[in-house]
Amino acid sequence: MTAAGPATRKRVLIDCDPGIDDALALFLALASPELSVEAITVVAGNVPVAQGVDNALRLLELAGRPEIPVARGAVSPLLRKLITGEAIHGENGLGGVRLPAPSRGPDARHAADLMIELAQARPGEITWVAIGPLTNVALALAKAPELGELVPEIILMGGALSGGNITPAAEYNIYADAEAARIVFASGIPITMLELGATSQVALTREHLALWQAASSPVARAAAAMADHYLRVYEARGLRGGHLHDPLAVGMAIDKNFARASRRLRVEIETRGEFTDGATVADCRPGQAGRRAPNADVPAIIDSERFLALFLERLTLLPR
Ligand code: BDR
Ligand code: CA
Repeated sequence: MTAAGPATRKRVLIDCDPGIDDALALFLALASPELSVEAITVVAGNVPVAQGVDNALRLLELAGRPEIPVARGAVSPLLRKLITGEAIHGENGLGGVRLPAPSRGPDARHAADLMIELAQARPGEITWVAIGPLTNVALALAKAPELGELVPEIILMGGALSGGNITPAAEYNIYADAEAARIVFASGIPITMLELGATSQVALTREHLALWQAASSPVARAAAAMADHYLRVYEARGLRGGHLHDPLAVGMAIDKNFARASRRLRVEIETRGEFTDGATVADCRPGQAGRRAPNADVPAIIDSERFLALFLERLTLLPR
C-alpha cells in the first residue's frame, strides 16, 4: 500500500450512527491519506438521529475537520420502531465521553438529498461507507434510482452469516431496518458486506488502549476513553476484546487487501421470519454460490494484525 496524493484519494461518504465504533471509524477515515471524506450523513440507530448529528459534529471538531458537511437523516427506520444501542454505546453514544462543542452546525440538506447531490456531482467517484442501519441509503435510492449508475460501491458493515448479535440470527444494522436493507441489496450497486464473522476477527484490547492513552493526540485520548467504555461492555459479557465492526468497513475502503477469501454471494434479507427476522441469508453451499446472481462480496478472512497496527497508529496522528 502506498500513500495516496490528493488527486488519487478515494472519495468516501460515510453514513453512520455514532456510536463508539462509528466514532473510531470516522477518526480512521479522517486520519487516512488514502481517503477523502466528502460528507458524513447520520441515521437513527445506536442513538436518536439528533444525538448522532451532535456526536458527528463534535468528532469532526476534535479531529480538526469541522468543514466536512454533516447531514441529518432518517429519524426512524422505514417501517420499524427504532431500537437504539445505549446499553453498548452509553447514554450519549460516545461512552459518556464529553467532547468540545462544535463550531459549526449541520448541513441544511437531508442526508438522502446530500447523498444524491454529491453522487450526481461526481458520478462514479464517491464510495458510500454505510456503518449504521441502511435507512438513509434506502431513502436516497428510492428518491433517485439513477444512483445505481452513479455510486461505484457501497461498503457496509452489516449482517451475519453464522450467528447474530441483536438476535441469535440477526446483526443489529440489518435488523434495525431490514426493509431498508432489502432495498439496498436489490439496488444493483456493487456491495462489499463486512458481516459479523469478519468484523469479530478484529478485537481491540486493553493493551491496545495503552498506546492511545500515552499519545499526545487529543483524538487518541478521546478514542481511548470511548473504547474503555466499549471494552467494559464486552468484559461484562465475558469477552476480552471489543470488536471493531465499523472501523473495518473504513479499513476496506483504504485497502481491500485487509481481507482474503471473499465470496461473491447472493444475500437476501429476511423480513418476516419468526426467529430469523433481519437475518442475512446467503447460499454458501459448495457449488451453489453462483446459482442466483450475486449481489455482494463477502470477505471471510481478515488480516486483523495488519489492520489493527494501522488503525492504532493512525488515530495518534490526528488532528493532522
Ligand atoms: C453494528 O451495530 C452497531 O451497534 C455498531 O455501531 C455497528 O455498526 C454492529 O452490529
Ligand atoms: Ca454503527
